[in-house]
Order: sequence, then C-alpha cells, then structure tokens
Amino acid sequence: MKKIIITIDGWSSCGKSTVAKQLARALGYVYIDSGAMYRAITLYFLRNHIDWTDEKETLEALQNIDLQFIANPLTQQSEMHLNQENVEYLIRDLVVAEKVSDVATIASVRTFAVAQQQKMGEQKGIVMDGRDIGTTVFPNAELKIFMTADIQTRVERRYKEMHDKNPNITMDEVKKNLETRDYIDSHREVSPLRQAEDAILLDNSLLTMEEQLDIALKWVAKKLASH
Ligand code: DC
Repeated sequence: MKKIIITIDGWSSCGKSTVAKQLARALGYVYIDSGAMYRAITLYFLRNHIDWTDEKETLEALQNIDLQFIANPLTQQSEMHLNQENVEYLIRDLVVAEKVSDVATIASVRTFAVAQQQKMGEQKGIVMDGRDIGTTVFPNAELKIFMTADIQTRVERRYKEMHDKNPNITMDEVKKNLETRDYIDSHREVSPLRQAEDAILLDNSLLTMEEQLDIALKWVAKKLASH
C-alpha cells in the first residue's frame, strides 16, 4: 500500500505524541518525536555551558552532536540518544523544558534539526510531531494535523506526567512552563508554531484516546483513497 507522510503540530502537551504513536502503530509507520531532538540539543548545550546566543560557539557545538533514535527492545519505542547515550529520560526534566524553547529559536539549531528530520522522511511511512513539521519540515506532506486542547486539560496531563518523575513539581510551575513555551514557540522569527493552511484541526479536550485515533485513522483512509 502507498505510504504517506503524516505531520502533527500543535501546542505543548496537547497529546501530539500520543496520537502520533497510535497512528504509527496502527499503520506500521515510523514515529519521530522532533521535540526530543531540540531537547537533546538543549541538554548538550546546558551540560557543556554553550552560549547559544553566540553564533560561532553554537555552530561549533552542533558539529559535536550526534542524534539517533534507537528502538528500546523492551518497549519497542524509539528513544533519543545523544552521542551514543540514551537521554530519553533526562530530556523530559524541567531544567531542559525551561530552556528548550529558547534554544529552538536559534536559526542554526533549526537548520541542523530540520535537515535530519527531512532525511528521515525520504522513504515516507512516517508520523512526525512537533511545531513546524507541516509548515517547514514537510510542507508537501499528504496529511497534516494541527492539535489543540484547552489549557487546563494540557496542564493536568503534563503535571501528571512530570509528577511521576519529580514529586516536588507544582501545578503552577507546569502551567507557567507550558504558557511560556507556547508563547516563545508561536512568536519566534524562524518557523513559528502555526497551523498550516492545509492542516486539519483536532481538538482533543473532550476526546478519549480511542475516539481521537478513530478520527485520525478516518482522515488517513480518506487521504490514502485520494492519492
Ligand atoms: O514537543 P516537545 O514539548 O517535546 O518540544 C520541546 C520544545 O522543542 C518546544 O517547546 C519547542 C521545540 N520544538 C520546535 O521548536 N520545533 C519542533 N518541531 C519540535 C519542538
């Protein structure tokens, strides 16, 4: 069967990766979490005290970064490896979350990540989620989904996720982080977060996981039938 590219963009913590993983599993496609790449770059910069406002320093640092998605044999989920180290867990930390949107505004960082993302899509059969996937990475993708959910739902989801790892975290900290990231992501100069003109809106505030997958799969079937 013909394979397509599916892009899922949207606000922080509105369930993009859940839908993307559901779709990839149902279709036998590869799932790529583009945010993990920006998070891993941020982790590298923080660990190595890179001043990402300095263009030269940033470009040099990027040359020392190798990013790979490697499947965990136990879970079958692909996990982010930074210079051969599994950082899937570390990149979800609030320390990284607080800086990642800043790092993601840097043009050379985006050029570095986007080139690798585009390469991953050459064979199609891919579901990639992020902020600029339907607008910049794959502007010709066959199916583009733009996701949203109301802020309280998003805060509660992310709080639950982060609280399991860090019981000291507060709902207020999570809310502030989401709002700040959404603001920076949608106001930056290079590839700001926005809904592509040909993207379909999916608001999952009131949907169960099964319902959202059902809707998305219907969109896929329609696209496959028309291509
Ligand atoms: O999807 P996420 O929350 O893991 O993404 C982390 C940050 O990375 C997000 O706040 C903005 C940035 N990002 C981006 O600029 N472009 C993407 N395609 C994906 C993420």
